[in-house]
Amino acid sequence: MPNTWLMVVFGATGAQGGSVVNAFLKDHAYKVRAVTRDASSEKAEELRAKGCEVVQADLDDAASVRQAVEGAYACFGVTNFWVDTKDPPREIQQGKNLVDAVKDAGVKHFIFSGFEYIQKIIGIECPHFDAKGQIEEYMQESGVPFTGIRVSFYYQNFLTYFPPRKVDEGKYVLEIPMGHSMMDAIDVNDIGECVHSILEKPKEYLGRFVGLSGTSMTVSHYADVFSKVFAPNQVTDAKMTTDAMMKKSRRIGAIDLAVMFEFFKRGHPDRDSVLTRKLNPKTSSFEAWLKANKEKFNDVFR
Ligand SMILES: NC(=O)c1ccc[n+]([C@@H]2O[C@H](COP(=O)([O-])OP(=O)(O)OC[C@H]3O[C@@H](n4cnc5c(N)ncnc54)[C@H](OP(=O)(O)O)[C@@H]3O)[C@@H](O)[C@H]2O)c1
Repeated sequence: MPNTWLMVVFGATGAQGGSVVNAFLKDHAYKVRAVTRDASSEKAEELRAKGCEVVQADLDDAASVRQAVEGAYACFGVTNFWVDTKDPPREIQQGKNLVDAVKDAGVKHFIFSGFEYIQKIIGIECPHFDAKGQIEEYMQESGVPFTGIRVSFYYQNFLTYFPPRKVDEGKYVLEIPMGHSMMDAIDVNDIGECVHSILEKPKEYLGRFVGLSGTSMTVSHYADVFSKVFAPNQVTDAKMTTDAMMKKSRRIGAIDLAVMFEFFKRGHPDRDSVLTRKLNPKTSSFEAWLKANKEKFNDVFR
């Protein structure tokens, strides 16, 4: 029996993997191996300074993935649709490379950040979900001991892709086509502790999919929280429709996201804020996160 368990983290320089690294570094029962495509980058150096072993591997290169998971007790995996790829067959192959590697290495618990196969469920193509859905299917069929996590819309998206848009002096709108339906969201920094708890209770979570959520509210309610935190500015729901979102931008990303919101609206996702708080009692509410990150919105509300 080893004194410490080796946890291998893909995406360690990114948002999800970074959160997982931070959670496992706090637990001295684990050693953390951080995987990056560039082991000499500034982020890689920061991971080394925090106490990680840093190794170089590329999900496109199956041999390097096999080397990275050698000796691992557990592994966290995330593939990236948006950066570099926007290429479902490539993302699916990356996921398969990872599943094959953890299987052959005899990893005891593989935690993969995936999504539902939307096209199969509602009959409309949604490449960034469907690719992860196909990786999930491959993982299930492979016999690898797994837990699938499905992470909701990051709160951080309100700073990047969906910031409140100014329409008049002191007046802003949120352009998220969810109608009156609830939308789940989460601080991406909270997911690491959830992954840690999942790994601590394999009997409870092996073979399951867990939907992570910190808050479930209507867009109008998210807007109210913005208005409260950034008063006297007023933020409201733009009441955008998925059709309008697709027409506004014909770019593949916008269509893909519009279909994702349509899927959410139809009530399919299994995100569970109660289970998420059981896994990580410190999971932030949207209001707490917004207050703690207020200054990051200086460029939005000026
Ligand atoms: N935004 C949301 O609301 C949301 C919600 C749920 C899920 N997601 C999903 O989350 C995924 C992105 O995760 P994130 O936000 O943590 O990403 P991120 O912060 O953009 O970081 C991307 C990470 O992926 C690694 N990476 C990229 N290509 C790689 C490759 N070929 N081989 C090995 N590593 C590679 C990068 O590592 P290096 O550059 O160091 O190699 C980096 O650590 C996306 O697929 C997205 O669909 C997003």
